Amino acid sequence: MKIKGDIVNKNVTFLIRYNERVMSLTLTPASTFPISTLADLMTRSFEGYLVPVTITEAVLHTMLRRDGVDLTSSRVLMKDDQPIGLALIARRGWTSRLAAMGITTDFRSGGVGTWAMEQLIEEAKARGEKEMILEVIEQNTAGVKLYEKIGFKKVRRLVGYKLENPQSESAHLLEEIDIRDLARQVTYHGLKDLPWQLSGTTIMQHTPPSRAFRLNDAYCLISNPDGTDVAISSVLVKARSRGAGLSGVLLRTLFAKFPNKVWHVSPIYPEEMGFIFEQVGMVREALSQWQMTRAL
Ligand SMILES: CC(C)(COP(=O)(O)OP(=O)(O)OC[C@H]1O[C@@H](n2cnc3c(N)ncnc32)[C@H](O)[C@@H]1OP(=O)(O)O)[C@@H](O)C(=O)NCCC(=O)NCCS
Repeated sequence: MKIKGDIVNKNVTFLIRYNERVMSLTLTPASTFPISTLADLMTRSFEGYLVPVTITEAVLHTMLRRDGVDLTSSRVLMKDDQPIGLALIARRGWTSRLAAMGITTDFRSGGVGTWAMEQLIEEAKARGEKEMILEVIEQNTAGVKLYEKIGFKKVRRLVGYKLENPQSESAHLLEEIDIRDLARQVTYHGLKDLPWQLSGTTIMQHTPPSRAFRLNDAYCLISNPDGTDVAISSVLVKARSRGAGLSGVLLRTLFAKFPNKVWHVSPIYPEEMGFIFEQVGMVREALSQWQMTRAL
């Protein structure tokens, strides 16, 4: 049974008419729940999503560490004693990122998401932050509507790519480097408003079996190349060497070094960087995202 969306009271406790009776919703710090409960709640909160989402404890631990998710600022949405949704908040300096936001199916489309987002914005302001950012799948109508209604503005479109078993030859050699060195270069030479997951700070949190490589002034980070599917998690060319096709040489050399792979680029790359992947024949993924920001 769907909620009716008849909002009775919009204060810190949200009263809403459900199944012909009034229920109260509250937000509780996610840090008071076991990781296993949060992982299960996140999976349930993303049921029916545009891409299948299964969050295990291990996946959640990686999100917490890599993306800087702060469980004390993240919230579990409670209907009385029942968790019905989750908002993960990552924090760095004056900025927070809505790293995940989901409500279990029975409680969607009734104003709960709007109320929760309003609370999260007020909480971020109270923490002294100046900006909240997020990424939302462009084709996720409810998500985009919700965030625009709350005042988020589009920064740019983020795109992803894929390529199966490229046949590549290269006379060049890649030098393997510490992921920390790549992260420093991204912080110094990358766009200042890169999406959270591409920022030098996030790249710094990647660890083996991921690997970083360098070819002259070009750098990349990939997931474990022992598997069949490999993700390209970062590509950078130093400012002084841009425009000379170095990123293409780097990627072709990478494909030649690790043959018979399916290469993936998540839809977190600024659209203006898409040429890097298109020049080596990678095919754009159907799903794209909006990078969004809201001043606080
Ligand atoms: C996205 C989500 C969090 C929104 O929460 P919600 O409680 O359903 O949102 P609300 O009821 O407050 O609706 C917010 C806006 O979205 C629109 N909306 C809600 N459900 C919709 C749907 N199924 N289709 C189209 N628009 C929808 C509403 O019209 C509303 O705008 P309005 O009040 O101006 O009419 C929720 O649908 C969800 O958990 N979805 C699965 C996970 C997900 O997509 N998370 C976001 C990823 S970043």
